[in-house]
Amino acid sequence: MRIDIISVLPELMQSPFQTSILKRAMEKGLAEVHFHNVRDFATNKHRQIDDTPYGGGAGMVMMVEPLDLCISKLKAERNYDEIIYLTPDGTTLTQRIANRLSTFENLIFLCGHYKGIDQRVRDLHVTQEISIGDYVLTGGELAACVLADSVIRLLPGVLNDEQSALTDSFQDDLLSPPIFTRPEVYKGLGVPKVLLSGNFGAIEEWRHDEAVRITTERRPDLLENN
Ligand code: ADE
Repeated sequence: MRIDIISVLPELMQSPFQTSILKRAMEKGLAEVHFHNVRDFATNKHRQIDDTPYGGGAGMVMMVEPLDLCISKLKAERNYDEIIYLTPDGTTLTQRIANRLSTFENLIFLCGHYKGIDQRVRDLHVTQEISIGDYVLTGGELAACVLADSVIRLLPGVLNDEQSALTDSFQDDLLSPPIFTRPEVYKGLGVPKVLLSGNFGAIEEWRHDEAVRITTERRPDLLENN
């Protein structure tokens, strides 16, 4: 998979891709992430990429032309499955959306800044708008990192068996059951006996029951999806 991330602050997004699992995914050639600085596509001598909004109001708007030039250049080089604008106005990211995006070859993530982007960029190029939650970040960069992480870890070969994405919270619309490792007792707190029993049928049943209990307590809305 190839992800092209367009932003005014690409340096904000370096470290998540240079560490741990995402880094290994890139080294193994399973994912490529390319950053593009919008300022490199500015057309006037001040390298301007934002301007005041028509009609007035607070904040600056990212101009249509630099973004159009950047996206058009990428589109001329390859076919993109989705061009995604990260914005609080978008559809809230879910595991289902991450699963779907993980099946694609080429994605563009477009990070907004300031008040947002000129509507004509959305009309010309954007195929999907995604929010990572009902709160406002200073820009789309951190949201792009979250989205990239949620997608790249699903690519075949990125996680090993022990890290398998199939047992994640949300993968089956259930939150995860409690987990424990050594020691068996810590500050008087023990480990549920069933986990020490070696009875894998009973362990699976306990984990499922706990997942349902925790989901019922914390996120009953998830159970309605079943
Ligand atoms: N940009 C600013 N806030 C955002 C959010 N919650 N999700 C995605 N992009 C954003």
